[in-house]
Amino acid sequence: MKRVFSGVQPTGNLHIGNYLGALKQFVELQDDHECIYCVVDMHAITLPQDPKELRSHILDIAALYLAVGVDPSKSIIFVQSEVPAHTELSWILTCSSYMGELQRMTQFKDKSKGRENSSIPTGIFTYPVLMAADILLYDTDIVPVGNDQKQHIELARDLAIRVNNRFDKKIFQVPEGRFLKEGARIMSLDDPTSKMSKSAENEFSRISLLDTDAKIKKAIMRATTDSDAMVKFDVENKPGISNLLSIYSVFSGKSIETLEKEYEGRGYGDFKKDLVEVTIDAISPIRSRFEEIRQSEELLKVLDEGAEKANAIAEKVLKRTYDAFGMGRKRK
Ligand code: AMP
Ligand code: TRP
Repeated sequence: MKRVFSGVQPTGNLHIGNYLGALKQFVELQDDHECIYCVVDMHAITLPQDPKELRSHILDIAALYLAVGVDPSKSIIFVQSEVPAHTELSWILTCSSYMGELQRMTQFKDKSKGRENSSIPTGIFTYPVLMAADILLYDTDIVPVGNDQKQHIELARDLAIRVNNRFDKKIFQVPEGRFLKEGARIMSLDDPTSKMSKSAENEFSRISLLDTDAKIKKAIMRATTDSDAMVKFDVENKPGISNLLSIYSVFSGKSIETLEKEYEGRGYGDFKKDLVEVTIDAISPIRSRFEEIRQSEELLKVLDEGAEKANAIAEKVLKRTYDAFGMGRKRK
């Protein structure tokens, strides 16, 4: 069976972009793949986090994994900082990476825009190397993520190939990204030219998986569209309605063309009203499952077992890497 690895940062509640771009794939893959899903708290601290909130968000994300349908009897779910090999391999990969390639990462460029070197946190610079370590530690074949992670996956591949070539031996499995056609980039509801994000100031720019029905309704009814009232998919000229069409399409399973026909000549009001319904139908069961799971002892057990299993796999790959580099003394 092919191995799948992915991670989500515990920096806030997940929104429908995270769900449609990443988590939905997590669930689909687990029947015929060996899946490992991580709560990446070490990535979260690349920017300052309130310690109490971080602790709570870690359990939130783990509970959301379960609530959307990740099944702990099939998949491993664990917290990144509970497997020390991630930081260890990250250092080794840091020594195999170049400043230039990290400087080219668009996420780094975005996050450091307008700042002097003296105030750019080193963690947001080396972040993609830690992500490469996450992936390579598990001999991962497939990494399901949203489009915004393409460049980071490319770096993980480059590092794997570079180390393998250096020692002329297969030390790392070279991973591949898996991106959906629809849903891989859900845009913000108030500004459809930027991606939906956990951290945007306007809470109506996103729909969180834990939002109330009333909030979902408000966010969709307020979403930016254009003035010609035609439900047509045209990202360039009609980014707002195109984004809403994508969301509608993935939640309902209907194709964009079918939806365009269905709403021909009916304006945005009708369309938005139905989208509210489709979205609430998809999200409210997740919300009620979440409430139950988040309180349960079971969740802690899942994470304990997950960390144990993840450690066992990661230790082997780390040892193989240490041996190749000649680190430490030979261990059995
Ligand atoms: P993050 O919250 O940054 O840890 O992202 C978790 C997962 O959600 C990653 O696979 C991202 O690529 C994906 N993701 C984040 N924002 C979006 C978005 N607006 N549309 C689609 N996927 C997204
Ligand atoms: N960088 C990813 C994001 O922000 C999260 C992440 C960290 C990840 N490590 C990973 C995703 C490994 C896939 C595989 O969305």
